[in-house]
Amino acid sequence: MHKFIAQMEPWFDKKEADAVYSYMKGGGWVTEFKKTQELEEEICRYTGAKYCVMTNNGTVSLTLALLALVVKPLSEVLVPNLTMIATPNSAVLIGIKPILVDVEKDTLCLDLEKAQRAITKKTKAVIYVSCNGRSDDMRKVTKFCHDNNLLLIEDAAQSLGSFWQGKHLGTFGIIGSFSFSVPKIITTGQGGALVTDDRKLYKKIKRLKDFGRNQGGIDIHDLWGWNFKFTDLQAVIGLEQMKKLKTRVLRKKEIYKKYHQLLSGINEIQFIATDLENTTPWFVDIYVNDPDNLMEYLKKKRIGSRRIYPAISTQKIYKNEYKNQKFTNSEEITSKGLWLPSSSNLTDSDINRIAKTIRKYYNA
Ligand SMILES: Cc1ncc(COP(=O)(O)O)c(C=O)c1O
Repeated sequence: MHKFIAQMEPWFDKKEADAVYSYMKGGGWVTEFKKTQELEEEICRYTGAKYCVMTNNGTVSLTLALLALVVKPLSEVLVPNLTMIATPNSAVLIGIKPILVDVEKDTLCLDLEKAQRAITKKTKAVIYVSCNGRSDDMRKVTKFCHDNNLLLIEDAAQSLGSFWQGKHLGTFGIIGSFSFSVPKIITTGQGGALVTDDRKLYKKIKRLKDFGRNQGGIDIHDLWGWNFKFTDLQAVIGLEQMKKLKTRVLRKKEIYKKYHQLLSGINEIQFIATDLENTTPWFVDIYVNDPDNLMEYLKKKRIGSRRIYPAISTQKIYKNEYKNQKFTNSEEITSKGLWLPSSSNLTDSDINRIAKTIRKYYNA
């Protein structure tokens, strides 16, 4: 019987295990300290951002960004209708209203024309999601925010290793957010990071995430703050994972290219045109008319796959508010989207087997 190929799995080796063991033996504090700072420096070096702050995850980091930028409760933020639920929910957590906007078909990112129509007096920010590492022309995005006096927060949770014209995604706005959850290109189990070039904002975020203190161990609280901190234990894993980022970026691109080569002749399957110079697809996404049937067939052949996120406007918690609104592109894309196995440790022979199985399904 064939081995089961998961849609996604984390990939560690002895390097992470040894690093954790040696850290523990060295009597580290476990909670965030020097190793977290080292990881923040590595993320700055890789993304080109001036400052980085680690957080517990990529949801909290978005909430923290909104708090730091003083986006007040009852304000509105524009959010794409095609994203992980964390994007709008990060705003809801602190009483801010996410306003869902349709996406563009060719990038899966926020449609700026439709966003323009969604602006009201209450709109304060855009949370721009670079879905699967792809983005629009980022000059257009920054100009849109500038012209409309809106803060640009980039949700680059899926975009470590992805650039627009050589500049890392997440570094175009006032602040950018990343996630290190398990399905990401590198992971620390859970984890998030905020990057910014604004020193004052950076300092403020550091206080907000540490109970409002200026310094650990000195319990003076003249600013509201909470505990959104990371741990050095995770940072030790993250530092080892960062060393693998370059090879994983290359492998993710090879994987996407190989699937594309093997499946592009099948009329029933559509790919999104992807600039692999700049984009590192997090997951391999294909668009078909019968994603559920294909998923079921693949499962029988011991191949995992996953439906792409349903449009946010169709989720029970948002549905009522948007029942009279049409989101043509996000609805069509989400009805067709399927993520194929996409782990960086997928072998060429795995991809050949998957492609062969899909060809058989379509009699191609
Ligand atoms: C676009 C997007 N935003 C936010 C998140 C939330 O990140 P986390 O799982 O680290 O909270 C995710 C997670 O997949 C995501 O894909």
